[in-house]
Amino acid sequence: MITIIGSGKVGGEVALFSALKRLDDQILLLDVVDGLPQGEAMDLNHMLSEQGIDVEVKGSNNFADMKDSKIVVVVAGSGRKPGMTRMDLLKINANVVKSVVENIKKYTNESMIIPVTNPLDPMAYVTYKVSGFDRSRVFGMGGMLDLSRFKQFIHEATGYSRDSIRALVIGEHGENMLPLTRFSSVSGIPLSSFLSKEKLDELVQNTKQVAAKVIELKGATVHAPGNAISAMVESVVKDRKQIIPVATYLDGEYGHSDVTIGVPAIIGKNGVEKIIELELDDEEKNVFDEGVKSVKDAISGIEI
Ligand code: LAC
Repeated sequence: MITIIGSGKVGGEVALFSALKRLDDQILLLDVVDGLPQGEAMDLNHMLSEQGIDVEVKGSNNFADMKDSKIVVVVAGSGRKPGMTRMDLLKINANVVKSVVENIKKYTNESMIIPVTNPLDPMAYVTYKVSGFDRSRVFGMGGMLDLSRFKQFIHEATGYSRDSIRALVIGEHGENMLPLTRFSSVSGIPLSSFLSKEKLDELVQNTKQVAAKVIELKGATVHAPGNAISAMVESVVKDRKQIIPVATYLDGEYGHSDVTIGVPAIIGKNGVEKIIELELDDEEKNVFDEGVKSVKDAISGIEI
């Protein structure tokens, strides 16, 4: 069973993508709001019936129902409002995530957890510490979403098919994110073959800022995060061993320890199966280290 804790727009979208991809025959939506997960489940089941897809979506307010879940996606908490940064949600969401993870530990101690709640990297750290799970079983969704935006900007700038574009974004899922132009390409051809440094810098800035723009226009980001989360779930349940940037606990990798931040990793049936260490140049390392500092400062400000 795949459990999604938080049955708002993003939680519902994760359930939709996961059901349409048939990632499990049972999907559970949990929320503290009476009726919300139940209504979301009914709506999804009606859609699935017309599609002829025998995936059962259940909605519940009882955390005990997540027993024996393989994967738990945590999207519970407040989303940012226009003008807010993700880090502005630190205090309010830390308490929500702590309480949610205590329940995961109580009811489904063998699961893998995919934190999504913002600020993502500190929340992934809280999840790792409170759960006490091996670090391979806690991997937050941030970079997968950022790279989807970076891909869109590369597609718009080059006009080439989205299918030919490979992009990588690591580091903090926030103001210090690191879209890696050197490690992104169009069919293996370096971006610098098509785009000037000035244009690439522009795409990097756009990638950092576009989520806030979407929130300003429509109030929340929904489809892109929902898709990114379900792609990570798919890499686990189908043991695809995709290389995906995930927020996971570092123990010396990239020269850092006791911090959770986005790094490329092989994602398969055992979760984070290997962290891939890239040879970053000085400029890239400075940005990555700034992100580590930002996350560590945030972590130091919360009680775990
Ligand atoms: C975003 C939120 C999920 O980037 O952080 O859309």
